[in-house]
Amino acid sequence: MTDSSEIPESPDSTVPLLAARGLAKAHGPTRALHGASVELHHGEILAVTGASGSGKSTLLHCLAGIVRPDEGSVVYGDVRLDRLPEKRLSELRRTDFGVVFQFGQLIPELTAVDNVALPLLLAGASRGEARARAGEWLERFGVLGQEELRPGEMSGGQAQRVSLARALVTGPKVVFADEPTGALDSLAGEQVMSALVHTARESGTAVLLITHDAQVAAYADREVQLRDGAVVPLGVTA
Ligand SMILES: Nc1ncnc2c1ncn2[C@@H]1O[C@H](COP(=O)(O)OP(=O)(O)OP(=O)(O)O)[C@@H](O)[C@H]1O
Ligand SMILES: [Mg+2]
Repeated sequence: MTDSSEIPESPDSTVPLLAARGLAKAHGPTRALHGASVELHHGEILAVTGASGSGKSTLLHCLAGIVRPDEGSVVYGDVRLDRLPEKRLSELRRTDFGVVFQFGQLIPELTAVDNVALPLLLAGASRGEARARAGEWLERFGVLGQEELRPGEMSGGQAQRVSLARALVTGPKVVFADEPTGALDSLAGEQVMSALVHTARESGTAVLLITHDAQVAAYADREVQLRDGAVVPLGVTA
């Protein structure tokens, strides 16, 4: 497999891995983001919290290069993601980013193991190699004996674990996870968070984690809170 990443392996720790400044994004008349700024550092696990509708998912989509902001900048290393042509952006998303969406985005026709194997196949792995590695990742996230189920046959929690395995299988530099434990009971949620945090720490992967759950946020190195489309300044709690 090729690694076309432009991000150095031995980072200058004073420069953020990913930085968003002054993001604004409207959906029709709704201002989902206005003036949101946030930094994610190399290997950092950052929790993003905030009320429903405060703009968390929109922020994640802008940082991951899925949605272009109307205003502001998103800088990854020294690359302006918000200005990158679509072809280079999708290549960079494939090599450097793993995403777990809030509402499952597994491919309904593919089994669990084939969903997880897909990013490896796209990166040039053989089918046998991709399926073997996919199986290891499913095991790590506690999806055992369900490798051949299709998303429609899985519970919400199983589907979310398969999504996490798919996001991590290629060894991304950044994982974006939108409510990864939202559909799980607290024990299963804890197991998934432990697996995610352990994997991220082991490989130096940075994680941007959206959650409503204070117990989940406690796994993070740092937490930022969104309110009305902007980050609440430090020290302001009420
Ligand atoms: N595609 C869309 N079309 C129209 N409005 C949208 C769209 N996506 C988001 N919004 C609106 O933008 C605002 C921010 O939405 P966003 O999904 O970012 O919030 P959130 O903090 O992730 O909420 P939740 O915790 O419920 O997932 C909300 O008012 C929402 O209704
Ligand atoms: Mg959301």
